Amino acid sequence: MKTQVAIIGGGPAGLMLGHLLHNAGIDSIIVENKSRKYIEERVRAGVLEQGTVNAMVDSGVGDRLLKEGLEHDHIDLRFNGKPHRLNVKELSRGRSVWVYAQHEIVKDLVAARLSYDEPLYFEVDDVSIHDIDTDKPFIRFIHEEKEQVVECDFVAGCDGFHGVSRHMIPESILRIYDRQYPFAWLGVLAEAPPASQEIIYAYHERGFALQSMRGPDISRLYVQCPVADTVEDWPDSRFWMELHARLETVDGWHQQEGPIFQKGITGMRSFVCEPMQYGRLLLAGDAAHIVPPTGAKGLNMAFGDVQTMTRAFKAFYESGNKELIENYSDTCLKYVWQVQRFASMLCYNLHRFPEHNQFEHKMQIAELNNITHSKQAMRAFAQNYTGLPVEIFYDVD
Ligand code: FAD
Ligand code: PHB
Repeated sequence: MKTQVAIIGGGPAGLMLGHLLHNAGIDSIIVENKSRKYIEERVRAGVLEQGTVNAMVDSGVGDRLLKEGLEHDHIDLRFNGKPHRLNVKELSRGRSVWVYAQHEIVKDLVAARLSYDEPLYFEVDDVSIHDIDTDKPFIRFIHEEKEQVVECDFVAGCDGFHGVSRHMIPESILRIYDRQYPFAWLGVLAEAPPASQEIIYAYHERGFALQSMRGPDISRLYVQCPVADTVEDWPDSRFWMELHARLETVDGWHQQEGPIFQKGITGMRSFVCEPMQYGRLLLAGDAAHIVPPTGAKGLNMAFGDVQTMTRAFKAFYESGNKELIENYSDTCLKYVWQVQRFASMLCYNLHRFPEHNQFEHKMQIAELNNITHSKQAMRAFAQNYTGLPVEIFYDVD
């Protein structure tokens, strides 16, 4: 087989890249090692920045998102027993965030891909990448017990944190920046209406808690838990007790309980690999960087990368100009580090760290007070939370 861009990974990054390339008239092949059912049911992100919503709508896959997604103009930062409601739309001059589950985006993108009949292979095994330091790279994989070889111009590594692509960058060149946090999130989906229409981030002496939703009758709820915990440590009754204690610090506010139908634990990490490219291999999304989910940025950043990559491939195929491809990593890393800064700031200030003393606790409260009371800090927070458009970084030195 032959294609222009071989895409490893059918998560949000790989599927969106394939879709944007299709719209630009550039061929691609996507290989994904899980089944279609698995990726369409995998529960993960929920909050989309305005730029991500615009990318879905402008590229022709946003109909269901506009119909079923929930637009949010406000968020609530809750600490010291008080709610602090921020109108992020007004503060960011017109940008909202939207709640629409990641697996719904995956469904929309898979449906689009199948509708125009471009190759998307599920349940592949043993993907390997070859000759990326030449101008004739190729990938190999097993599909339905047969070995397949795809010759291509470029390989896009969109295979998430545990994928194979990043490891193709020689160790002598690769720099890894990594921080692991001493806590995790226990997340549940519950058949219970969310008590608030707004997303609530709560800092409490017992630990962080988050209320989000997936519709008027489904709550998406998280509590901070020790990093070594498993879901068996968290029977439903313990989960509800902790959630009530951490969120119900405001008079009259009560989160109704309901049957929990999904439960999972996610570790927290900040991670960047530099450079995000080597030879004819370009990385996007979690393959290159991870942020703690407190800022709701991972999927949004993955979309930023594939938009930047598409722009570079378009310039190459339309006019032979290689400059944007050569600068791909440098361009992405400008916003990647800005997003890392914001996500780690929020992660730091909203969680209880086992090693922190009262001084650090007071500093966290001071920072949260600043974010919710200083007009300038509120604006900066809202701009970052609703998402800095990637284009503003394209011409920054
Ligand atoms: P992935 O989603 O990991 O996709 C990679 C794909 O590659 C997978 O389908 C995988 O099966 C496949 N793959 C892996 N290895 C191979 C291989 N060798 N060959 C072929 N295929 C392979 N982000 C937000 O923006 N907003 C949020 O609100 C948010 N909330 C989150 C909440 C939680 C609890 C978690 C865990 C994450 C959250 N995120 C959020 C982050 C977001 O889910 C990720 O950043 C996003 O999934 C990244 O997409 P990706 O396509 O880069 O990687
Ligand atoms: C979610 O709805 O899953 C969600 C909301 C806010 C976050 C992360 C995840 O920061």
